[in-house]
Amino acid sequence: MKVDGKPYRTIWPIDDGRAVRVIDQTKLPFEFCTLDLCTVADAAIAIKTMIVRGAPLIGATAAYGMMLAMRNDSSDNNLAAAYKLLLATRPTAVNLAWALGRARDVLTPLPSPGRITAAFELAKEICDSDVIANASIGDHGLELIRKARRPGRDRINILTHCNAGWLATVDWGTALAPIYKAHDQGLPVHVWVDETRPRNQGAALTAWELNKHGVPHTLIADNAGGHLMQHGEVDLCIVGTDRTTSTGDVCNKVGTYLKALAAHASGVPFYVAAPSSSIDWSLKDGVNEIPIETRNAREVTHLSGRGIDGRVQEFQITGEGTSALNIAFDVTPSKYVTGLITERGVCEANQNSLATHFPDMKDV
Ligand code: MRU
Repeated sequence: MKVDGKPYRTIWPIDDGRAVRVIDQTKLPFEFCTLDLCTVADAAIAIKTMIVRGAPLIGATAAYGMMLAMRNDSSDNNLAAAYKLLLATRPTAVNLAWALGRARDVLTPLPSPGRITAAFELAKEICDSDVIANASIGDHGLELIRKARRPGRDRINILTHCNAGWLATVDWGTALAPIYKAHDQGLPVHVWVDETRPRNQGAALTAWELNKHGVPHTLIADNAGGHLMQHGEVDLCIVGTDRTTSTGDVCNKVGTYLKALAAHASGVPFYVAAPSSSIDWSLKDGVNEIPIETRNAREVTHLSGRGIDGRVQEFQITGEGTSALNIAFDVTPSKYVTGLITERGVCEANQNSLATHFPDMKDV
């Protein structure tokens, strides 16, 4: 996507693969800047501290992290150490284990001199296929948006949670890809952007992205979605997923489940944009089997933002002695999911439909 007229991806190799450049998402929306990752440790820190985040981008960064590790030392020992270091960065998005598993499978049988080039090619392939998959999700989701248009209404209202836009992927985004395609085709889309406490990915990232692309949107407090749905102000919800079970349960940023419940109660279609890289074919019961990340309580007790002096600062919002729990994801059971928008089309959130769309993957 373009930033001020210049096309960007969220991650790309520089200096013939000696380093990898990423957009530092911790600085948005106030500053757009890039950062160079030169070692596997840099890649691990970038994922852990959420300089890069979003399930597909985490996987892509891990793949390039393996390439940086191989550049430094392509021995079996370092391959195993890099895999372990990167896998430990964040637990919930399965794209991380998926990309690392692919890297390990490709690199392990190779003699060590060939591993650098192979790791580079694999990372590039993971990035390119992410872009293709997301563009395809955009095409399939566009048709759902078109159908959601109600006669006599001047706009199509779509609610989204967190950031599943191009910043969360290599390009296009998952949940936002259909919205960009609809907007580009002249459909009058308007997006309700959940702020997405505690880290505010909606306010800081989704709103920034939509603004840069000129898509009409309105930021809402996380708790406002239910009211808007009750009053007919949401035509459909589209969110992303960090891990999808083989049975169609989806795990996404905390608060997604409550939106799905509200959508169910109000008869609002609730779609999840789910690239196949987010499907964990080994799991059947999302609520009990998906590992849920808990993060530092400080993300709940503090907020960061721009003060009236223009400086970005952190503010404490609680009194002394208040403890907090920071659960980063929740699971929406498949019964609340109207459909999964995959790169191979829209499927029902159940085992049969997923297996029919992905017969070549269901046994992995
Ligand atoms: O903690 P984050 O910012 O990595 O969480 C991101 C999300 O929950 C996204 O909705 C998800 O990764 C789907 S992304 C295309």
